[in-house]
Amino acid sequence: VKRIAVLTSGGDSQGMNAAVRAVVRTAIYHGIEVYGIQRGYHGLLNKDLRKMDIRSVGDIIQRGGTILQSARCQEFRTAEGQQKGAEILREFGIDGLIVIGGDGSYQGANKLSKLGIKTMGLPGTIDNDISFTDYTIGFDTAVSIVVDAVNKLRDTMSSHERSSVVEVMGRHCGDIALYAGVASGAESILLPEVPFNLDEVADRMKQNFENGKRHSIILVAEGVGKGDDIANGIVERCPSIEPRVTVLGHIQRGGTPTANDRILASRLGDFAVRRLMEGDSGKGCGVIKGECVATDIDLVVNTKKEFNQELYDLSCRLSQ
Ligand code: F6P
Repeated sequence: VKRIAVLTSGGDSQGMNAAVRAVVRTAIYHGIEVYGIQRGYHGLLNKDLRKMDIRSVGDIIQRGGTILQSARCQEFRTAEGQQKGAEILREFGIDGLIVIGGDGSYQGANKLSKLGIKTMGLPGTIDNDISFTDYTIGFDTAVSIVVDAVNKLRDTMSSHERSSVVEVMGRHCGDIALYAGVASGAESILLPEVPFNLDEVADRMKQNFENGKRHSIILVAEGVGKGDDIANGIVERCPSIEPRVTVLGHIQRGGTPTANDRILASRLGDFAVRRLMEGDSGKGCGVIKGECVATDIDLVVNTKKEFNQELYDLSCRLSQ
């Protein structure tokens, strides 16, 4: 391998910069040239590639966002777009591509791999919805942001004896709500993976207030619907409860990455380059039980992330 490229694609996540840094520095350490592709697959199709050096990734490990910027590219979803992307990579003499992103980005990497481009995927998304890795890069930071917000909400909710409905991101995956819910002691966690009954949620809140609780927090994963609709449903069933709705939105995708996300990103960036050097390709990289692993990317994109039922059951036991 003489020359590789790296891009970040889809929704950005905290730690993407740390991953780019690891890719660039590991490659250069081993005498491989590295190109950064600006704005994901969109930049690839526009030949927006630039050579990176050791210094071009200086002072970024602590920054959220991505210095390579990101985009959601419709053209790259088409067979023509994918073909064009592969041709451009060949034109630039790129013999390995590292794609940092979520599900859609992995689909693109899978297509390029089938067109003969040596490709490695790194799981960069706050959603934690990529299989064959325990965690994705950015998830830990997003969860910490939600927990911090819930801490603040608890203060004011307790003063007023109110309940708070907090809508969090995650697309079709409930992991941000689940992990943040356990860490912040939320009373109810509504997730796409577990059917729920709003009558029971409202009843439980009412009972909790009657039993002396001074506040209650309901975390709603965006995959089950809008926080506003959940709050309205609760008021309909129990008019004495005064829920206030907070939609955390893109706040969850910004800010400095946690140490865990930086370490995960650094390990995976280095691992992906070394796997390419060993001749491997068409893999999604992850960390499972502490070990870096590379799994066939076709299998990764076609396997639904396993739901952590044990953690959900724990949240139910502890949230009385
Ligand atoms: O995939 C990351 C994510 O933040 C999801 O949690 C969310 O549904 C989506 O991206 C939001 O997308 P956009 O930034 O395009 O509004």
